[in-house]
Amino acid sequence: MEVVPLDSVEEVAALGADVVEAAVRPGGAVLGLATGSTPLPMYRELVRRHSAGLGPSYDGVRCFTLDEYVGLPPGHPESYRATIARELTDLLGIPADRVQGPSPEPEGLPGAGERYEEALVAAGGIDVQVLGIGSDGHLAFNEPGSSLASLTRLKTLTEETRRDNARFFGSIDEVPRHVLTQGLGTILRARHLLLLATGAGKAAALAAAVEGPVSASCPASVLQLHPHVTVLCDEAAGAGL
Ligand code: GLP
Repeated sequence: MEVVPLDSVEEVAALGADVVEAAVRPGGAVLGLATGSTPLPMYRELVRRHSAGLGPSYDGVRCFTLDEYVGLPPGHPESYRATIARELTDLLGIPADRVQGPSPEPEGLPGAGERYEEALVAAGGIDVQVLGIGSDGHLAFNEPGSSLASLTRLKTLTEETRRDNARFFGSIDEVPRHVLTQGLGTILRARHLLLLATGAGKAAALAAAVEGPVSASCPASVLQLHPHVTVLCDEAAGAGL
């Protein structure tokens, strides 16, 4: 695992953008995209470079979002599919039909995880998977206790995560209770994992993930089992390392 402590959020965004761009080869690439607030500065940097004509061509790029709420009306602005389109893929000119998330639509919830896993395999697997980390050490929506070998499936959110994510909604009551998420085993199948962590609220979780025991009680510790992981953190998030 390569852990790169940086001074600022801006440096995390710039170096993260370098890693993503390096994966985008002529002819395409498969990008795994996380939501949450942490990757947004990096997404803005990718868009800034693209708009200035500096980035690579995104022709032929396919994207997979990491997780998704279950139960939001289609097109809800806080759905992860809508968020990624608004913040990144629409702005990079990646067509909507080349961006896929785990979703009950259109066939329904039973089998949704398996369909998403099949689509990942059919696309050839993920070249670089962007990840954030939850304050309780969760990865995607794999909460503490998740199996380290899990694949994409339906999960129930903890109250802590619903509280954390209530800032994107009017109130905690509007935060869905259920989600579809890549499993920890799914995440480990990506060829390169890029974990971003910024802010003091992530310091304890990041230290546990990077230096603690590999354990389901800190789902992000599963990264220690992957041969190609880049962790970019700012000073505050790296304070416990
Ligand atoms: C959500 C997402 C995760 C994300 C986490 C941290 O729970 N499902 O993928 O890593 O929040 O979010 P933030 O970056 O806003 O702290």
